[in-house]
Amino acid sequence: MADENARPAEDGPGPMSGRARVAVGAGAAVAGIVDGARSGQGIAAGSIRVNGTEHQVQASSNTPLLYVLRDEMGLKGPKFGCGLGQCGACAVLVNGKEVRSCITAWSSVKDEVTTLEGLPARWAQAKGLSASPALHPVQQAWIDQQVPQCGYCQSGMMMVAVDLLERTPNPTEAQIRDAYTNTPPSPHLCRCGTYMSIIAAVRRAAKAMA
Ligand code: FES
Ligand code: FES
Repeated sequence: MADENARPAEDGPGPMSGRARVAVGAGAAVAGIVDGARSGQGIAAGSIRVNGTEHQVQASSNTPLLYVLRDEMGLKGPKFGCGLGQCGACAVLVNGKEVRSCITAWSSVKDEVTTLEGLPARWAQAKGLSASPALHPVQQAWIDQQVPQCGYCQSGMMMVAVDLLERTPNPTEAQIRDAYTNTPPSPHLCRCGTYMSIIAAVRRAAKAMA
């Protein structure tokens, strides 16, 4: 069955066959990525630390971090939404700060990456627990508050929550709204309109994390 998150094919929408390590998207910058990949130039080898583990990567130096996480590491938490930094579905944490992985070249990442899959271990490390719980308090709050509808945006939404709560343990509603709305490069979008439930879940998570 086709993966709805597969990177778009070079000549149109839809999943790309195989695992060609070619970055594809819109705009001149991305066209440059494709040209570089076609000509075999710009291939970089290196390592990035993701969810506590060092991973060796060999890919075009401009390949988006999102593609490396999903296609090479099998981490399906971050989603491909717009591919342009305009929706937040692909958000991950880099050094604890929310980053749009669709517009971040993997080779530019120097600090640890945390995806949805790494949140329980992140919480365990923060609290000095000997073992990871099944869920980070933010994930549990999302369940308790029954936030997701289709769910597509929610990994990115939880990344914002963790970023905010690690810096501001007891945020006001205005601070929560601000984090989702005014953090560059764009507001986080939910086509299902779960915004009020997200605010409630962040407040619930704040209490659980106190
Ligand atoms: Fe990255 Fe939309 S997929 S911001
Ligand atoms: Fe469907 Fe947000 S829950 S897009």
